[in-house]
Amino acid sequence: MKFIAYGVRKDEEGYANAWSQEHGVEVKLVSELLNKETVKLAKGFDAIIAYQQLPYEDEIFTAMKEYGIKDLSIRNVGVDNIPADVAKANGVRVTNVPSYSPSAIAELAISGLMQLLRRMPEFNEKLAKGDFRWEPDIAKELHTMTVGVVGTGRIGRAGINIYKGFGAKVLGYDVFHNPELEKEGMYVDTTDELFAKADVITLHAPATKENYHMINKDSIAKMKDGVYIINTARGDLLNAEDLLAAVKSGKVAGAVLDVYENEVGIFNSDFTGKEIPDATLKALMEQKNIILTPHVAFYTETAVKNMVDVSFDSAADMVSKGESKNEVKL
Ligand code: COI
Repeated sequence: MKFIAYGVRKDEEGYANAWSQEHGVEVKLVSELLNKETVKLAKGFDAIIAYQQLPYEDEIFTAMKEYGIKDLSIRNVGVDNIPADVAKANGVRVTNVPSYSPSAIAELAISGLMQLLRRMPEFNEKLAKGDFRWEPDIAKELHTMTVGVVGTGRIGRAGINIYKGFGAKVLGYDVFHNPELEKEGMYVDTTDELFAKADVITLHAPATKENYHMINKDSIAKMKDGVYIINTARGDLLNAEDLLAAVKSGKVAGAVLDVYENEVGIFNSDFTGKEIPDATLKALMEQKNIILTPHVAFYTETAVKNMVDVSFDSAADMVSKGESKNEVKL
């Protein structure tokens, strides 16, 4: 059995080599992303392991069929960049890493929120100038607030536990109800109800057609004045222009964004000394009360190790047993 892993970063290499040694499986690591050209490198391997945000091109799957490779194991959770029909038509089955570290995402969301509530951007700016005055940057306390969690899967629930630890009131919305949370009476029936009642709205839902731009000018209008919005899930969930307008008007008191709808090609690239090629992104970055990070919520030692270990285990299961608990229903 031998695998090829694409898009491998330096911080993944140690974990990948350790897995390979421990399991006695040859794994070729390449830094190139998987595309219709680089897929040629996979000839002769039994499985492909990949991580990328760029769309997986159709030709990848036709080449995999030609090379007799039936498994694509991705090192992340989201499968929204994989053409499901093309994968299926070419007999390629896909595994993901459904839960590399829900806490990694939830902790980043909450650390951003805490920075906003405690007015850290304002104090940092003032201190940099030598201004040690308090006013007007009075803070809010999280335990006095109601947090609305959209999506109560693993990440949403990791967040809920942290918010409860702070003493905040928590409301949840999800199409699928978690039985434990149901017992606690945490669910509201509609996003509108959650929008109307929450002081903080945090998104932990997948990018589906139904969820596209669920945060837009109409839904923002239904929210409380001075609401905080957190998106560490997928950029497509939120209309960035509408959010920007609402932050500028003061309707939205602040936002934490770790994702952005046009982030591909910008996040995890270096634009030092160059023009950032997206006016809306630039405008979001200029707002003091928007904490923006480049899709790094997942980027912790714990999560990265799990992404490597679990994806490699899944590839091994698919090749040796023909099944994996992490196979995604495409
Ligand atoms: C995912 O796992 O789908 C993520 O969003 C994190 C990714 C950027 C590695």
